[in-house]
Amino acid sequence: MLFTRRHILKTAAAVAILPVAAEAGYPPLKARLSRQRVAPDGFPDTTVWSYGDTVPGTIIKVDQGARVQRKLVNDLPQPTSVHWHGIRIDNAMDGVPGLTQDVVEPGGTFDYDFVVPDAGTYWYHAHNQSMEQVARGLYGPLIVAEATAPDVDQDLVLMLDDWRLNPETAQITDDFDNGHDLSHAGRIGNILTVNGSFDPAFAVRRNERLRLRLVNASNARIFDLDLDGLSGWIVALDGMPVETPLRLSGSFPLAPAQRADLIVDVVTEGETASLVSVERDGSFGLARFEVGGNAAGAHRHGVSALPSNPLPEIGNLQNARTHRMVLQGGAMRWLESARLGDTELSGRELAQLGKFWALNGYAERPEDPFLDAAVGSLHRIEFVNETAFPHAMHLHGHHFRLIMDDGSLGPWRDTVLVGRGQARQIALIADNPGNWLLHCHMLGHAASGMMSWFRVS
Ligand code: C2O
Ligand code: CU
Repeated sequence: MLFTRRHILKTAAAVAILPVAAEAGYPPLKARLSRQRVAPDGFPDTTVWSYGDTVPGTIIKVDQGARVQRKLVNDLPQPTSVHWHGIRIDNAMDGVPGLTQDVVEPGGTFDYDFVVPDAGTYWYHAHNQSMEQVARGLYGPLIVAEATAPDVDQDLVLMLDDWRLNPETAQITDDFDNGHDLSHAGRIGNILTVNGSFDPAFAVRRNERLRLRLVNASNARIFDLDLDGLSGWIVALDGMPVETPLRLSGSFPLAPAQRADLIVDVVTEGETASLVSVERDGSFGLARFEVGGNAAGAHRHGVSALPSNPLPEIGNLQNARTHRMVLQGGAMRWLESARLGDTELSGRELAQLGKFWALNGYAERPEDPFLDAAVGSLHRIEFVNETAFPHAMHLHGHHFRLIMDDGSLGPWRDTVLVGRGQARQIALIADNPGNWLLHCHMLGHAASGMMSWFRVS
């Protein structure tokens, strides 16, 4: 870490959730350059790429079942598109250039128009040259409110990011094609932010109950998160409620693109509580909760599960078609060869083209889908990680259930972390017609080979 000093920010950077207002017309979503203070006080502002002039971009909050309409206006120097991560969306609105739409050229626009079937914590981000565009700040929260929201005093979105800034100028380094990053853990940064600020402060009161919507928007960093002075439960993962809230004890991982909704009580006896990133060389405070007095009323006990979303029934796994996706390559397990289109290339040739990884022998999105599924069919996919690095595998347009080691069905997710040398199985009902990406959400890995797709028809 280059930026390790603790600084007290003068302004709180809370993204507090306000009541849902009726959406007036088509508010434009302007992607353009802006400046903001990302590094600690004393450093210059950073030029970022953002939606609506802030990172995270403009919060989009709608009711479950509502229609979202946004006109993307591209005022960036690069073509772009927007992907609505975790939304079980109409395929034409999924925002994948070359698969579901054309890129939006600089000066161009695209009208996104879709319905959000599930309540929960989602996000949107650029999906063209994502490795660079997300690193520059093109992401924002998409919050879908439950018809009956849980009883909390504050509902806060906390978007975590990991920036790589030049330590003198505080500008984003443009080494996006760095072969070492691509072939190793990805673009790991040197400053951690919450809602685009270093060590922001949120005002709370003792005994208040908070809903914290954590989103990992970083390129490649797997956070190991812990709480200090807050106590509670995980109530949703990747937007979807867990059947039984999980009592928090000790740290928990949050891989790139994953979300966790927590309901926590402010239990500290001190002046601050905090969200902490646990690292090899100690713990690092990501955000502070400054206690200003006591909340009236007694500290509540227990929490109930969030209302469930209209997800499909998985049914009997015996009836599932089984598929294997092998994750290959990267440093220490270099590819011997893999395919680009019809051609089998050696690992050396691939490396020269900036390809270091492969999924089932393909070092880029293949011509034919990994899986051709009938609408409504049930699939068991086993991710076999033969590499020396963890990967966060994400499916578009669907959530799936983890299959636990004992064969039981685990939580619904849209992104699963597969540790090095590990195998993870998921159960998928392919019920959303269209062409859907399946890729590693370490964005440098996706750019350098870990990209595939499946078709539902
Ligand atoms: Cu959040 Cu294809 O990505
Ligand atoms: Cu990866």
